Amino acid sequence: MVDRNGWGRDRHVLTGSLRRPPSSFVEQANVTESGIHEAFEENWPECWERAADLLSWSDAYDTVLEDEDAPFYRWFQGGTLNASYNCLDRHLEAGRKTHTAIRWEGKHGERETYTYRDLFVAVNEFAAALGDLGVEEDDVVTIYLPMIPELPIAMLACARIGAPHSVVFAGLSADALATRMAAAESEYLVTCDGYYRRGDAFNQKSKVDNALLGLEQDVQTVVVDRLGDDLPHVLGNNEHDYYDLVDAFAGETVDPVPRDAGDMLFLMYTSGTTGEPKGVVHTTGGYLSHVAWTSHAVLDIKPEDTYWCAADIGWITGHSYIVYGPLALGTTTVMYEGTPDYPDRDRLWEIVDRNAVDIFYTAPTAIRAFMKWGEEYPAQHDLSSLRLLGTVGEPISPRPWNWYYEHIGTENCPVVDTWWQTETGAVTVSTLPGVDEMKPGAAGPGLPGIDVRIVDESGAEVDAGEAGYLTIARPWPGMARTLYDGDDRFLTEYWDRFSNPDREEWRYFSGDAARVDEDGYITVLGRVDDVINVSGRRLSTMEIESAITDVPGVAESAVVGRSSETKGTDIYAYVSTEGGYDDTAAVREAIIDNIEAAIGPFARPEGIVFTPELPKTRSGKIMRRLLEDVANGEELGDTSALRNPEIVGEIQAEIRDE
Ligand code: WTA
Repeated sequence: MVDRNGWGRDRHVLTGSLRRPPSSFVEQANVTESGIHEAFEENWPECWERAADLLSWSDAYDTVLEDEDAPFYRWFQGGTLNASYNCLDRHLEAGRKTHTAIRWEGKHGERETYTYRDLFVAVNEFAAALGDLGVEEDDVVTIYLPMIPELPIAMLACARIGAPHSVVFAGLSADALATRMAAAESEYLVTCDGYYRRGDAFNQKSKVDNALLGLEQDVQTVVVDRLGDDLPHVLGNNEHDYYDLVDAFAGETVDPVPRDAGDMLFLMYTSGTTGEPKGVVHTTGGYLSHVAWTSHAVLDIKPEDTYWCAADIGWITGHSYIVYGPLALGTTTVMYEGTPDYPDRDRLWEIVDRNAVDIFYTAPTAIRAFMKWGEEYPAQHDLSSLRLLGTVGEPISPRPWNWYYEHIGTENCPVVDTWWQTETGAVTVSTLPGVDEMKPGAAGPGLPGIDVRIVDESGAEVDAGEAGYLTIARPWPGMARTLYDGDDRFLTEYWDRFSNPDREEWRYFSGDAARVDEDGYITVLGRVDDVINVSGRRLSTMEIESAITDVPGVAESAVVGRSSETKGTDIYAYVSTEGGYDDTAAVREAIIDNIEAAIGPFARPEGIVFTPELPKTRSGKIMRRLLEDVANGEELGDTSALRNPEIVGEIQAEIRDE
């Protein structure tokens, strides 16, 4: 599906030149060994003991990796551990009771601080309450909470008693919740009455009631009273008030259950755009080792840092890098409720300033919004506490990368562009900020020990500078153990396409396309299903978008295919501009010039539609498929999963008026 000849042209336009991380950073970095990539290579898989050594094990493991059931790999077999012990007890034992674990920034300016001791107490009380409700080891507990402290508390309480959690993002619909609970046969649910969205009280419990109506199993529901008098609610059968439950177990402690390294720590459903959601199973030992190691080596987290990942815990980024990674390392993790532009567009910078945040991790979509709002918002605050910046979730093109580097990091902070997925559990491609040079637009080389191969349709590696499929040739500790829906689906979704079982050659397929340069740096081009074919030439919509967003004045863009009689598909672009760029005719001309320069005249869009915003899912991903339907004048399906459904009508009107 990937046209090797059509890719990788003018790659100097798409990626910037190498930049050395600031020496002030390197001098203090956790990992600085220049030969670390080679050292991992020579000592693989034992090199991964460095990750496991960051944890406290109840029983030491016998082997680092067992592969006889490949690709159902067993990491750290024989070892036992408890994730909540690793995130809590061991820090208390080390005399760090009064150190801040979580700093919570609420929607309306509320602030709460949990020391490690406070968090330990809260987790133990809720673990006792869960046990009293009947939750046993290996029972799946569904958690459907917004960004309030009870969310990580509930996760760690589950981990403490060996009950895997399945967190469902609070913004997902009742149907989505029901599908996930049914698939996991989950009989326990932790949720809340409601939460504040912008200024308004939003009723979460009514979504829960709808979801539970359709379920076969009986469910015990724990309800956090988040809104108090703003949304009075009455508890029904099998419903329990969170605070009443924990009050009944005040001061109680629960012994952490030792789990086998391969036991499930949690289940995370990926928001698949087609078909049933996939229940990705993560292990206790492998996953926790890998998130701790990458928190240490990539995010450079130290116990004395104030670290902030501005994601939602309802997705994998929040699991790995708000909860498990930072707490395993004993640092202070900030969690915030709300949005970056409420009450004003400087909300994040105000939080960085007030908390003297050292490390900040966010998504390109947010960075492009900051860029669109303008540098005056960060400029109002003192951001000099920052030491490292990170991005995750989508490709970031050089212009927003540079904006982030200059206006947030004031050229003093390395930027790590971390490529990974729900299924990889933790970061797999990134520069190591204390070791590797950065290249704006390219995520970086595979991390030490991670063997990324960019291959063509036949599985053969493509030449440097050419595009292909992003695959991983060897296992890694954070990898999904299987899919909860079944081992067969795990094989068909990720392994069948590029593996050769007869030769015992297993290769994980990510679903992404990427290009690797001579220097080994990987530029992720986007999902393979975002590839469009124009006149027999296959193009990455992401690559075109990168060319568009590099035009001054452009905030964001989404490129889709539109059926065309002459070309099969032609390119259709949706573009939002930064404030002050009202002359869309000039921007349009610059976009066309840039695309022609970056890719070629054949990549010139047939239509360019300007819109104030792009339609996005609640997790911030642009809904390209919907935009494709709009471009093709098709009936639109359900738009209720959108954060901003009203924008769709505006775009349709704009197209009609053209
Ligand atoms: C994309 C999020 C380019 C990619 C952690 C991947 C990225 C999907 C990057 C996984 C990056 C994530 N550069 N693309 N640095 N990080 N992606 O499962 O397409 O929500 O397959 O995990 O996001 O999304 P997921």
